[in-house]
Amino acid sequence: MSAPLVLGIETSCDETAVAVLRGREEILGHVILSQDVHRVYGGVVPELAARAHLRVLDDVVDQALQEADAPLEAVDLIAVTAGPGLIGALLVGVSWAKSVAFALDRPLIGVHHMEAHLFGPVLEDPEARPPFVGLLVSGGHTLLLHVEAWGDYRLLGKTRDDAAGEAFDKVAKLLELPYPGGPALERLAEQGDPARHTLPRPMLRTEHQPGDPEYYDFSFSGLKTAVAGRVKELRAEGTLEGERPHLAAAFQDAAVDVLVSKTLRAVDETGCGRVLLGGGVSANRPLRETMARRLGPSGNVFRASPRLSLDNGAMVARAGLFHFEEGRVSGLELGADANYPFPGLRASADWGGSAA
Ligand code: KG4
Ligand code: ZN
Repeated sequence: MSAPLVLGIETSCDETAVAVLRGREEILGHVILSQDVHRVYGGVVPELAARAHLRVLDDVVDQALQEADAPLEAVDLIAVTAGPGLIGALLVGVSWAKSVAFALDRPLIGVHHMEAHLFGPVLEDPEARPPFVGLLVSGGHTLLLHVEAWGDYRLLGKTRDDAAGEAFDKVAKLLELPYPGGPALERLAEQGDPARHTLPRPMLRTEHQPGDPEYYDFSFSGLKTAVAGRVKELRAEGTLEGERPHLAAAFQDAAVDVLVSKTLRAVDETGCGRVLLGGGVSANRPLRETMARRLGPSGNVFRASPRLSLDNGAMVARAGLFHFEEGRVSGLELGADANYPFPGLRASADWGGSAA
């Protein structure tokens, strides 16, 4: 049998994304439709996201199949993000996938959105496979993992409050940048001097040792509050406008410093110099460059180009194919779950480590 044709469906947040994957790496169709309805509200409105997915999903699937030059009947298996994410948005993709899997009698595989992000880079670079230290940074999650094999994820650290992407989005909003804030903040920061404002590095400048949960965990809400304080002071002084690029640069510098430093702690402890960046924030150039520079020439940094690091259907198809090859199929009882458990994630108690 030739390599299976996998349809990957992603509707967990505000991108309606579908891809057609032939086997493990050949992307035949790839369509991402970003919903711009949320811009006027400065953030994703869950009800509007669900309605927009419902309106466009059929057309996005059609376009991906057209690009692949394949009819729906040629699809061998269907992978869909079942969680985590916005429940109404997830339900649109899962219901669609279930009905088509039933009608065509094809296997259906529910995929965890963050596990899918781990599979983004390997679609472009076959070297981007375990073992690696994985830093997953998206709008809803920040996870530091040690991955010795696909499907075996040792959790080292996670955020205790805001996710990294959420912090970028909230600080962007404070600086009156449009949603989504991450890319806009990165652009504004290019004209700024990060040294003009001193911001905290939460959970970093402490005396914590390996074994303390704080050693790997993240916290971004204090950093966001510090920016909010500076914005207030500068506005009162009437100097906010000119300081915006500098404040953006100082925030980005602090966030990147924390993310890179904690990842390098994991590199030291595991002895694994292969770092994989996944999730929307991995599109951030200073994050990638700082990681590569501080890791040094003996290490490797893997990350996908933006079309595979921001939400997309190809990573969902690739993660679904992995589970299919392992003999795990979801069946039609699959449900959307806003708190979908990360398959294969082992927390501290399971491996004797410290991270909660
Ligand atoms: O993975 P993703 O596309 O969606 C979620 O799963 O949440 O990540 C979206 C997040 C948003 O918070 C967005 O602001 C952030 O990734 N992001 C960035 C950049 N591009 C996207 N953050 C910093 N710099 C960027 N260039
Ligand atoms: Zn994502």
